[in-house]
This record gives sequence, C-alpha cells and structure tokens, in this order.
Amino acid sequence: MSTIPSSEAIVAALSALVGPQACLSSDAELKPFVTDYRGLYVGQAAAVVLPGSTEQVSQVMAWCYEHGVAVVPQGGNTSLMGGAVPEPNGQAVVINLRRMNRVLDVDTVNDTLTLQAGVTLNAARTAAEEAERLFPLRIGSEGTCQIGGNISTNAGGTAVLRYGNMRDLVLGVEAVLPDGRIYSGLRGLRKDNTGYDLKQLFVGSEGTLGIVTAAVLKLMPLPRASSVALAAVPDPAAAVGLLGEAKKAAGQTVTAFELISGPALELVLEYLGNVKSPLEGGHAWMVLIELTSGGSSESLDQSMMQILEAGLESGLVLDAALAQSVADAQAFWRIREEISDAQTRTGGSIKCDVSVPLSRIAGFIEEASDAVRALEPQARMIVYGHMGDGNVHFNPLRPKDRAAKEFLAANYEQVSHAVDSLAHAAGGSISAEHGIGVAKRDDLTRFKSEVELELMWQVKKALDPKNLLNPCKVLPFSKG
Ligand code: MLT
Ligand code: ZN
Repeated sequence: MSTIPSSEAIVAALSALVGPQACLSSDAELKPFVTDYRGLYVGQAAAVVLPGSTEQVSQVMAWCYEHGVAVVPQGGNTSLMGGAVPEPNGQAVVINLRRMNRVLDVDTVNDTLTLQAGVTLNAARTAAEEAERLFPLRIGSEGTCQIGGNISTNAGGTAVLRYGNMRDLVLGVEAVLPDGRIYSGLRGLRKDNTGYDLKQLFVGSEGTLGIVTAAVLKLMPLPRASSVALAAVPDPAAAVGLLGEAKKAAGQTVTAFELISGPALELVLEYLGNVKSPLEGGHAWMVLIELTSGGSSESLDQSMMQILEAGLESGLVLDAALAQSVADAQAFWRIREEISDAQTRTGGSIKCDVSVPLSRIAGFIEEASDAVRALEPQARMIVYGHMGDGNVHFNPLRPKDRAAKEFLAANYEQVSHAVDSLAHAAGGSISAEHGIGVAKRDDLTRFKSEVELELMWQVKKALDPKNLLNPCKVLPFSKG
C-alpha cells in the first residue's frame, strides 16, 4: 500500500507545478479557505492551490490522484452546506479557482457567454449587461460566488420561476476529472442529441465528479422595464392563489414571487435598524412580486395594479405597496435579500431548504409550523423563499432570550428531521437549492431510495474510483 506524501512533500510538488506564489501553506494563509463563510465548518488542508489555467488544474489533479491526495474544489466559498471546505482531519489540497476569472467570449448572435469558472456571478451578469443581454441567475452572494460553484451546486435564487436554475442556463462545460483528464464540452448548442448529456454530470454534483474550469452560459434579452410590489396576504394558501392570478394576468413577465413571513420581516427591520416596512402595521405573511419585460414600466405597473386590485377584491391580498421608483424597488428587494444575513448575524437558525409542489406548499408550511411549535413554542418562524418555484426556506430561529448554541443543541436534529420528513411526505425535496455538502449528507439515506443511492455511487466510482475528489461530500458513507 502506498503511503500518502507528507504535507511538505505535497507543497513542494504542487509549488513546482503552479509556482510558489500560487501554493499557500501557512496556517494564516490557509484559514480563510478551510473555514466556511458562516464559520460553522472548519477543515484542515496541506495546501491551497490557486491555479491560473485549466492545464494547471489538470496537472495538480493528476499529481494528487497518483499520490492518493484528496482534493477539495472551491469557488467563492459561499456554500451553506459545508460543501467547499475540507474535512477537519487530513491533508487535502484545496483548489480555489479565483485566479481563473476571465470572460472569454460574449457572442450576441448565439446569445452565449463563455467564461472561466472563477468569474464571479456579479462579473458574469455585468459582462452580459455590457452587451445588452441578461444572464439571469440571481442570488444574494453574487458578488462573491463564482460561476464554477454556481454550476457545481446548480444554484437557484430569485429568478428561477422565469428562467430556471443554473442547470437550465448551462450550455457547455469544461471540467477536469479526478485523474487529471480534461472533459472539453465548451459547446454553445441548444440542441445536441449525441448520446449522454455528460456536462450535466458536473451540474449539481458539488465538485465530487470533476472540477468545472469553464462554461458556456445562455444569455437572454435584457429586460427594459420592471414593476415590483410587496403585498400582504392572509396565509400561504392565499399567496399560492395570488401567484396563479399573477401568472394568468401577466404570464411570462412574472419573474419573481417571493414569500416572506412576518417574523422574517421583523428580523430584517431589527437587523437593518434604519429601514421601514413599505406596508403599514404588522402582517403574518407577505409576497414580493416582480414583473419584468422588454416593454414599458407603465404597462407592467398596470398589470401589477390589476393583479393587486383583483387580489384585494377577492381577499387574496390584505394590503399592498407598489414601488414608485427604482430606488423603491431596490429597497423592497433589500428587505428580502437581507433575511439570510440577518439570521447569520442573530445566530441559532435551523436552516431547512425544501421544495414542495406548489399544490401542497401551503399545507406543508402549516404542518411544519405546527411540528416546530410542538417542539419549541417560542421559536421565531423565519419562513421565506422562492415560492414561485416551490422553494421554501423554513428556518426556525432561536427565541430572543435563548442562546444560539443551546437552542441548536436542543432542537437542530429534531426540527430538521420533522421539517424534512414533512417536505418528503408532500412529494418534496430536502434540499431545493443549497445542495447536500456535509450538512445533509447523512440524511440522504433516509430520503433517497436504494436504487438512487446505488446509482449515485456507481457514477462516483466510474469517475473517481479512488474517492479523492471532494470526498465525504454529498454521498453518505454507508453505500460506499
Ligand atoms: C436566500 O434565498 O436568501 C438564500 O438561498 C437563503 C439562505 O441564505 O439561507
Ligand atoms: Zn434561496
């Protein structure tokens, strides 16, 4: 049996491949790369490599594969599931793609954007906008997260209702396989039925099958107009009803439809301090609606008003505020987008990221709320998310007078189990858009069938027989 090289030997070999500047190894240098951004997962690594090209990624991977060294791919390190940091014990190598941050091509005839994996989502969106196109993925971490990570985790966000998630936006992928071979699939085709769609192996597999190094993404027409409103609704069932009415009245222009619970809004207002709710008084439930189009904002505002007025008449809407300016719209969106950080800052949040068919989502929220209240009557129900596509962030939060650590220790397992089981029973998924990482890994055995788990392991073994690429992520040990 060959022994794994020492940390010193790993650093010496990889420095020779990428240059000493691009191979970090001191504790201080490693720290930000082995710690996830919420500080919940802290790992250990022999080195962090910052390759400058696909060829360097390939060389590093080939060396690590030959020598039995585990590799953890990393983009912006914004995973909520501990998916981008190494295990606490060991001497893995983190390959961070941030130096590979070039936009390679913007093709406004083919409507495609070709870029390296280390381009941030924000930079990708800007490159598209400069060419008067839209790259529609929209998530809170867009300034930090990278396209490679977005692909590896099949990122979702607030515009999935209209444009789909990352899987729907990727036309081509280049990826380095665990043994260092390069899969070159950088094609910008909307039709290609030549056998298995291999690029999809790298979408949503969280860096366990290959490291995405470049991609070809779809571009859309840049919307010129938008209308944004915040509406109070009596309950989630009314929100679902209103979504149906909005789709009927405004069709494809319905771009976002976000649910916000009263406690979620309160938490954000408390966290931001100097911000007021656009709606008077407190409400148990609200929805943030966005319409966008290539037409005029006046006509979109009219559609929005029709939706809201009809809702007020039928009782689906209790009160509503229409954004009167771009600044208003940004302020409405800010309230929604700060929910995540407000929870992180408060601490003691049990994050459940589930999806449920829209037809069952209201029942799910009611049952899950009852289940949590039975365990923790005072928990703050931070319930929000992308209702338009069936994704609920159901995140019970510690009561104000309870310490985060104690609240989580007492409730984390039971609450997540109850919420996930109810989502599963309603035909849903225990991870809608945040992935599995390590946080949900062991839960997969409960919610995936034998056949699904076996197939996943067979795919993993076919591409990574030594189990060296992002080991211990996604796949539960028991089926190894
Ligand atoms: C969001 O939609 O804000 C995030 O996906 C949820 C989160 O960060 O928990
Ligand atoms: Zn989300």
